[in-house]
Amino acid sequence: MNQATLHQLKVFEAAARHSSFTRAAEELFLTQPTVSMQIKQLTKSVGLPLFEQVGKRLFLTEAGRELFATCRQIFETIAQFEMTVADLKGLKQGQLRLAVITTAKYFIPRLLGPFCQLYPGIEISLQVTNHERILERMSNNMDDLYIMSQVPDHLDVSYQPFLDNPLVVFAPVNHPLAKEKNISIQRLTNEPFIMREPGSGTRQAVQQLFEEHGVKVKVKLELGSNEAIKQAIAGGLGISVLSRHTLMPDSTEFSILDVEHFPIQRTWYMVHPSGKQLSIVARTYYEYLLEAAKKFVKETGYSKLEKVKDEVENLEIS
Ligand code: PGA
Repeated sequence: MNQATLHQLKVFEAAARHSSFTRAAEELFLTQPTVSMQIKQLTKSVGLPLFEQVGKRLFLTEAGRELFATCRQIFETIAQFEMTVADLKGLKQGQLRLAVITTAKYFIPRLLGPFCQLYPGIEISLQVTNHERILERMSNNMDDLYIMSQVPDHLDVSYQPFLDNPLVVFAPVNHPLAKEKNISIQRLTNEPFIMREPGSGTRQAVQQLFEEHGVKVKVKLELGSNEAIKQAIAGGLGISVLSRHTLMPDSTEFSILDVEHFPIQRTWYMVHPSGKQLSIVARTYYEYLLEAAKKFVKETGYSKLEKVKDEVENLEIS
């Protein structure tokens, strides 16, 4: 490996990540023959093939997979070093890779604005996806921090709760049950229900509650996004259970039904693999988010579940 250069590793990492020389070339603003040449030289230094082509698809060999994991560590260490140097210079600089569950997208991006103003040198990449995908990303160590509602019990992780995430029953604003109080959960069986996709944490929590109470809802539609579900509810296709945070304060299209056993009490956590050393940038964001959540609770009282319950009971959106 003495002959291998950092540039070759960079080219290889991109090709491995995309499973494509062409896309690696695009990303790195190189030509495709340059990418092939760099990888050929790297393969020679390693002494074993790094890729294999099956049909039209490109796969990593075992040596390729090992090298890919090594590249990730190398580049992460270099990024950490760059951040340390920037920190020593009094600057907060570097990349922050966040992955958040879909319900957090109503809260996290809004907080990123002020964060970016405070730290203009920090570049952010934000992935919004469901619970299952977040677990996959975490197992592959793809991001700095994860925001999710259920701490995985099969992975060794560190976590910090920062805000409640109540799941409530959404219905169209003029729904016949909208004015009723303390609706029995069994009555949901009469309503067409819109469910999130398999792999969604919201779906899991809803199914668990329904199972506990022997409720069998009629699932009319399955949709893979909270926004799509809201559109379907507004269009009169049915009711659903969504995070209270997906409701914008100025929304007039929905009512929240006062159903027994709701809200389902969930919490947002900041999570990262236990062994992972948080970069300076990630730690800065971690502390910022904790402060921002505290401020949010103080200003709105929003996170107090008791309050949310009151709010749900008194809510009249019309
Ligand atoms: P989801 O996330 O997008 O997977 O439903 C929400 C949650 O887990 O609370």
